[in-house]
Amino acid sequence: MKKKKLPPFDRYAHYFRAVQSPEADCQFISDSYKELRGHRPHDLREDFCAAFALCCAWTRRNRHNRSIGIDLDQEPISYGQTHYLPKLRPEQRKRVRILNGSVLTAKVPHVDVVIAFNFSFCIFKSRLLLRRYFKSVHKGLRQDGLFILDAFGGSDTQEANEEKSKIGNFFYYWEQGSFEPITNEAMFHIHFKRKGERKREKVFSYDWRLWTIAEIRETLHEAGFRRTHVYWEGTTRSGGGNGKFKRTEVGEECYGWVAYLVAEK
Ligand SMILES: C[S@@+](CC[C@H](N)C(=O)[O-])C[C@H]1O[C@@H](n2cnc3c(N)ncnc32)[C@H](O)[C@@H]1O
Repeated sequence: MKKKKLPPFDRYAHYFRAVQSPEADCQFISDSYKELRGHRPHDLREDFCAAFALCCAWTRRNRHNRSIGIDLDQEPISYGQTHYLPKLRPEQRKRVRILNGSVLTAKVPHVDVVIAFNFSFCIFKSRLLLRRYFKSVHKGLRQDGLFILDAFGGSDTQEANEEKSKIGNFFYYWEQGSFEPITNEAMFHIHFKRKGERKREKVFSYDWRLWTIAEIRETLHEAGFRRTHVYWEGTTRSGGGNGKFKRTEVGEECYGWVAYLVAEK
């Protein structure tokens, strides 16, 4: 019998299935804003938006919602324009604006919430640059605005290693290629493997500094944010993350963790 031919490899579609959950992120954004501000936010800016899946999800969930995405790289933006934007109704599309530029210098209207997800701010390796970025976010927020970002850590991030997961009909690999204990710099790679094919190495790579939650909070305060909160993930019976995040000042020592940070202007 002839083998079924796989469709052409689409790195953004694989990335989306392996690491993104825009609907759950939007729910967290809306709920944490309501918890801290007493009402729901409508205007959102997604920094490091890449193919801006979250901007599209945000705009789709409420007729008053608007989104602005910023990314340096036109390639993922073009992917979003041809793959995600057409899935919105024409009226919804008008409420999404995408800018090809740097989050450090982009001129954008004030918003209720700025988000920076999937650890993208780790591109800034010095405290000076991180503070400069946080200051520009602070300036871009309305008076009662919130900045929401995510962070990761745990003992596994202090050494090179690779984690493999099965996602539907392919394998997803998250490789930490290196860890430098003096600078806290680390290289990360995403690989994919489809059935019957060779492993596709380094489909995405990230050259980051690993920031601790304490450093991120201190830098947020230095940039002008009045209060910062940490939302820690709950655990399943088997010890994995359960996808439910609660505000707390007490974390849990583990091999790997992901947390949301929320900063109040
Ligand atoms: C990890 S990816 C984006 C992830 C996406 N936010 C998500 O949640 O899946 C990082 C993105 O940041 C962009 N980027 C890096 N430096 C930037 C900068 N200074 N300003 C805007 N975008 C930047 C890259 O082009 C890349 O698309």
